[in-house]
Amino acid sequence: MKVSAIANANIALAKYWGKRDANLILPCNSSLSVALSDLIAHTTVMPDKKDSFNLNGEEQNPASKAYQEYIASFLAKARRVYSVPPLRIISQNNFPTAAGLASSAAGFAALAVAINTACKLSLDTKELSILSRFGSGSATRSILGGFNIWQKGEKIDGSDSHIVNVAKQDFWPEFRIIACITDTSKKAFASRAGMAQTIKTCPIYESAWLSTADQDVDTIQKAILDKDFSLLGKTAEQNALKMHATMLSTTPPINYWNEATKEITSNIVEWRESGLESYFTMDAGPQVKIICLEENLSLLEQKLSALNYIERLYITSVGSAARITEEHLS
Ligand code: PMV
Repeated sequence: MKVSAIANANIALAKYWGKRDANLILPCNSSLSVALSDLIAHTTVMPDKKDSFNLNGEEQNPASKAYQEYIASFLAKARRVYSVPPLRIISQNNFPTAAGLASSAAGFAALAVAINTACKLSLDTKELSILSRFGSGSATRSILGGFNIWQKGEKIDGSDSHIVNVAKQDFWPEFRIIACITDTSKKAFASRAGMAQTIKTCPIYESAWLSTADQDVDTIQKAILDKDFSLLGKTAEQNALKMHATMLSTTPPINYWNEATKEITSNIVEWRESGLESYFTMDAGPQVKIICLEENLSLLEQKLSALNYIERLYITSVGSAARITEEHLS
């Protein structure tokens, strides 16, 4: 029997950067994200003789490093806790994969929701977010819609490291995120390796990142609940810059910024100084995500379209929770 699920990507306004346990994927700090309405992973699972994985129409080699590190490792962890038979997994993203756009977050959240139904596990939201976390940290936050915290937790078994909802999808209807795609190629340095290198070699990880990361989550949570857009934007932009500062100061340096990234981010600051309020954030890739309110969307779109380098713009609002669908992939 086929079971299919859909999950939205999410973008962190206060980032997760660094693992305290790489095997269980437990973070050093809490993070807070917003679900993105139009960036979606669609995943179908069905019991089969052996595990296999088809991503965006391409059969993945089970011996490949990516398959082993992500799919095989996720399934092994899931099977330590739940009874999951060999599975055929088919997944499709409607946006570029592995380019710093949270494709793994949406993909693993959809996979967890599909497995929950296919294997009759009856998991609640918290358990689903822990199962997704076995695939990728940011997937913890793609189980629910709206604004969500991935609470870092303290227990060594990770049972308190899961999603907590801050505000539902319809809480802030004017909230918009513009994803500017500047380069669709796969990232040169995966976030997993980037985090490990940062923890190992970055001299400012504690002082510039860990000392303020949880405080940023609290500030942004308050800003959401008060609908204080300026406080949210300012804190989110600084949070992203602090994370990139730790990346740039590892040995060797990790630099996700390209020419387009520099042009867009400096324009955002300039436009803001002249009254057009928006803020930027970036993950482990060169795409720039712009946070704004509906009232400024069309002017921003117009100005961004006049810039060089941008391959594509995705305009999104606050997205919904991961869910089962009757539409199956084959
Ligand atoms: O979950 P991962 O391994 O894809 O790491 C995500 C890391 C960032 O995107 C840079 C930050 C975040 O919180 O999403």
